[in-house]
Amino acid sequence: MSENIEALSKQISHGGYVIGVTDGTYQNAFTAAWVMQVSFNPLLLAISINPEHYSYQLLQAGGVCTVNVLGQEQYAIADHFGHSDKDKMMGFQWQTDKTGAPILSESLAYFDCEVSHYSDAGDHKIAICKVISAARLKEGHPLLYGQTGDMDGSSDLYK
Ligand SMILES: Cc1cc2nc3c(=O)[nH]c(=O)nc-3n(C[C@H](O)[C@H](O)[C@H](O)COP(=O)(O)O)c2cc1C
Repeated sequence: MSENIEALSKQISHGGYVIGVTDGTYQNAFTAAWVMQVSFNPLLLAISINPEHYSYQLLQAGGVCTVNVLGQEQYAIADHFGHSDKDKMMGFQWQTDKTGAPILSESLAYFDCEVSHYSDAGDHKIAICKVISAARLKEGHPLLYGQTGDMDGSSDLYK
């Protein structure tokens, strides 16, 4: 790999999202940058998730999730959900729509999804998710992954 690969990878634009998951009993949420729309009809989103995350267990068991769009001022929320903590859902307001997966009420917008299928992608899994419902919750400019610096500690992962 080029020694500049970390800096070069940041040239690929990504956003900042909180992915809400539930198995029907337990709820969790994690920060994700690797999210993209991959189909118009049906409307499908792809989420790249590390299968070692606790959230992956809940995603697999429940088959539902939400994609919550963070605003540019919500850097601290990205940081909070970007780290594991058994109590990390506390202190935030949550709501649900059709699937029952947790929606972060202070996000700019959400997409309520059912998992369609998974694909292998190296050390991650790609969850292909069908959008069941979506809504804007407030006005604002979306957070960009490039603005989060090394919040995810990924600089070590390119070595
Ligand atoms: C800015 C940022 C972006 C991230 N993007 C992803 C991502 O796209 N996919 C992923 O699996 N983890 C991503 N992470 C890491 C997870 O959010 C982190 O490992 C989290 O602790 C997982 O939550 P859990 O252990 O409670 O399931 C990102 C973290 C940060 C801070």
